Amino acid sequence: MEQFTPSSKYNSNHWTTNSGAPVWNNNSSLTVGPRGPVLLEDYHLVEKLAQFDRERIPERVVHARGFSAKGYFEVTHDISHLTTADFLRAPGVQTPLITRFSTVIHEIGSPETLRDPRGFAVKFYTREGNFDMVGNNIPVFFIRDGMKFPDMIHSLKPNPKTNVQEMWRAMDFFSHIPESLHMFSFLFDDWGVPYNFRHMEGFGVHTFKLINKAGKETYVKFHWKPSCGVKFLLEEEAVIVGGTNHSHMTQDLFDTIAAGNYPEWGLFIQTMEPCMEDAYDFDPLDDTQTWPEDKFPLQPVGKMVLNKNIDNNFAENEQLAFCPGIIVPGIYYTDDKMFQTRIFSYSDSQRHRLGPNYLMLPVNAPKNKHHNNHHEGFMNFMHRDEEVNYFPSRYDPVRHAEKSPLPQNSFSGKREKAIIKKENNFKQAGERYRTFDPARQERFLMRFVGVLSDPKVTDEVRKAWVFYWTQADASLGNKLAAKLNMPAIQSGM
Ligand code: HEM
Repeated sequence: MEQFTPSSKYNSNHWTTNSGAPVWNNNSSLTVGPRGPVLLEDYHLVEKLAQFDRERIPERVVHARGFSAKGYFEVTHDISHLTTADFLRAPGVQTPLITRFSTVIHEIGSPETLRDPRGFAVKFYTREGNFDMVGNNIPVFFIRDGMKFPDMIHSLKPNPKTNVQEMWRAMDFFSHIPESLHMFSFLFDDWGVPYNFRHMEGFGVHTFKLINKAGKETYVKFHWKPSCGVKFLLEEEAVIVGGTNHSHMTQDLFDTIAAGNYPEWGLFIQTMEPCMEDAYDFDPLDDTQTWPEDKFPLQPVGKMVLNKNIDNNFAENEQLAFCPGIIVPGIYYTDDKMFQTRIFSYSDSQRHRLGPNYLMLPVNAPKNKHHNNHHEGFMNFMHRDEEVNYFPSRYDPVRHAEKSPLPQNSFSGKREKAIIKKENNFKQAGERYRTFDPARQERFLMRFVGVLSDPKVTDEVRKAWVFYWTQADASLGNKLAAKLNMPAIQSGM
């Protein structure tokens, strides 16, 4: 008998139930007489409705709205002196991948024109297992400690009473979080509404570690640069685009690939020797900071080409599941507190959203052979035919893999709940604002004036924001104060 693979290509040429029985009438329910009542014994009807009633799974708690496409990564520049990662072993090496772009805050059917960060998550199916680079289109993040993440998201999500996103709540929350300023210098800039997915940059955001054959470690930041450039939508344009098509980013990606015009991104790295980590006025493991490109130039590594649309939105977008904890030998996490928190949170969420065996789903499963004794659980469809499901065993020939390199830094310190030493919350936000031309600075200012003018925003909250922006850039702080009819605040107070 042919090996059964659950796939629509094994469809019979007539209707059947899920268990394969022929269905001779898919139009009418089984009734007593032509007018009813309907008989519960109509197994096909009950099964059809029961399946329909359960079609939805919980949407992602964040990044619910998004779309994915498949393609490959090709190494163009040799970085094998920095890492043992097999998929980066030499120029010319290609690795299949799937990439999912997303918005963050709103629900699965929300418009793609809203001001929001965009997710930029890439799953590389390497010969040594998957590598999930789960980043965003903004190089920094709002917070630097995962403890704050659920509250941060609650403040940005719709008000639990009105079910409407109300920015007075976010302004209230972030008025306590000055490290968010750098992120807001992107979000409230034109950058906050990308033109479409193809015209977005991507960033690993966190600092990663590369480890080479000799065990040498290098801090690294990842950057994706689109070959067609970066473009945004201004408010008036976004209203028109979104009013016409609330899926314009998804549609653009799908249609472009279908037309054979494959989007491409270059992958670049910035590198830093770990022994230099204390040499700067910012903490290089702080995800609210970028590394200045004049000191840490972008070095090309390879390119990503998206050349294949997904066949099925549910199987390859809705059930696609990323986790920053999924890495390959030669690439490692750093001690960045946010990164460390994310290692736990994603797979935990997916065990809830998709079930404990979510990594068996074809889109999530590694493409290389894999083996362990994690087994059973809900919806486990792996066919196992073996008598030894424990380790160690003299009957099981499977052995440990070759040792993967681990970072060698040692730690000492007391347990504590603390903030990092070099916060430096304002400098990079101010520097970024000063790179904008006057018209762009004005748009940035007016977006803040807009949200802070909400009557529900208290003077205390407004004062905090004026204070923060004054520390970042005195002229911006003064302008904001003037527009809000608040007294100016001196910088450095
Ligand atoms: C500690 C802080 C964070 C926590 C606890 C967290 C948690 C989560 C969770 C639970 C999901 C949903 C996963 C799913 O159901 O598939 C998610 C999705 C996502 N997060 Fe985070 N997140 C954090 C920070 C970040 C940061 C800093 C970034 C950017 C670097 C980021 C980028 C993403 C992306 C791109 C997705 C969507 C992945 C996809 O397309 O399926 N998150 N996050």
